[in-house]
Amino acid sequence: MSTVHVSVIGIGCGSPDHLTLQAISAIRRLDAIVLTDKRRGDDPLVHVRERMLAEHAPGVETVVVHDPPRERRADHVGDQASYEDAVEVWHAARAAAYAKALEPYGDRRVGFLVWGDPAFYDSTLRILDRVAATGLTLDVEVLPGISAVQLLAARHRLVLNEIGASITVTTGRRLADEVAHGADNIVVMLNRSLDAGELEGDWRIWWGANLGTEHESLLHGDLRELAPAVEAERDVVRRAAGWVMDVYLLRRYLQ
Ligand SMILES: C[S@@+](CC[C@H](N)C(=O)[O-])C[C@H]1O[C@@H](n2cnc3c(N)ncnc32)[C@H](O)[C@@H]1O
Repeated sequence: MSTVHVSVIGIGCGSPDHLTLQAISAIRRLDAIVLTDKRRGDDPLVHVRERMLAEHAPGVETVVVHDPPRERRADHVGDQASYEDAVEVWHAARAAAYAKALEPYGDRRVGFLVWGDPAFYDSTLRILDRVAATGLTLDVEVLPGISAVQLLAARHRLVLNEIGASITVTTGRRLADEVAHGADNIVVMLNRSLDAGELEGDWRIWWGANLGTEHESLLHGDLRELAPAVEAERDVVRRAAGWVMDVYLLRRYLQ
């Protein structure tokens, strides 16, 4: 049975300047690229990828996969178990869609352009494992990219850890639990709103939205004072760019 060679390529978070030289040369040797469209033809993050391809690999074949629907209604994914069930159903459907897209490319190389870095809250590698489990033979390489976490740190000129201390990286959904378990230096991704707004205690926040793009926005200060401004700025960025993604570092004031 022939092998499909797959390159999972981190592309940074929206700026073509953040593609690595390795990513560019990998993109140039692809036979095809799979683009996952989350908005049925009008996904701004697909357009970002298309612009990168137009610049670095004009004419490369693209295979657009429409992302299967995902249950997001709060009353259906409120607790961790139902959230995980919903993700399971969605991943299974995505794996079937990827298998169908990859099957014709035996002995050729296909790329996935992963937002940021494939190691941070991205399902591509997990889904490719599921594709391989269906019997398609895959040979997968991973090329790292610049994550939103790194961009946040760079923009605020931050070292994410205090000397010799830990960094927790989590999601808005899990933030309260992490704090309850003692985390005090936390990078928060996948935010539905400013989930930190309700936290007990005294915190500083370093916040960034749409980092690396023309609509980039940064705020830094005391969490309680800044929370309303962050919420308002999320809306401003969303309206201007058509999408908003934000990430922040929370650090407890020293006692
Ligand atoms: C599905 S995760 C993917 C993360 C990505 N793999 C990475 O390495 O950054 C999406 C989350 O990453 C963060 N993110 C991605 N791009 C961003 C950007 N340009 N500016 C700010 N945050 C971003 C946001 O927290 C967003 O909800």
